Amino acid sequence: MQQTKTIQYQVLDSLQELSVDEQKHIQNAQAQTQNAYAPYSNFKVGAIVVLEDGSHVIGSNQENRAYPSGLCAERVALFAVGAQHSDKKIKSIYIAAKGDLIEKDEMLSPCGACRQVLLESQLRQYLPIKIYLIGMNGKISIFDSVHDLLPFAFGM
Ligand code: THU
Repeated sequence: MQQTKTIQYQVLDSLQELSVDEQKHIQNAQAQTQNAYAPYSNFKVGAIVVLEDGSHVIGSNQENRAYPSGLCAERVALFAVGAQHSDKKIKSIYIAAKGDLIEKDEMLSPCGACRQVLLESQLRQYLPIKIYLIGMNGKISIFDSVHDLLPFAFGM
């Protein structure tokens, strides 16, 4: 039997339609690409995790000459939240990148492992996490829940 599953997300052409706080987090995520340590891929990713009290935790990808020892920006930030702020819920995550690994017009999208970690963060707090993917072409894709990024997840 044929089945259909729908995911939802929104694409904005620019920052103008967003609140001042959202714009600030987007700019911060873009700025965090500068803290990436990415000498092997030259692909720099910045992440901002916003907590329920309005504070935020930063992340950027940290690579290693033993490639699998490195970590994506999203997981650097999410694990820091788990280690330092496990009493607070996550409202949203903003992800930006700089580099040639994807086309300028391609949507920046977290890797499968980061999606699984995002899902764990969402499930442990019983509250959806909003995800802002900041394209290099200025477009912003917004997902209201990790389930829209990771349908058919393991453990949902
Ligand atoms: N990377 C991230 O930090 N986040 C993603 O969502 C995708 C990929 C990093 C991992 C590696 O350091 C570089 O980008 C190239 O894959």
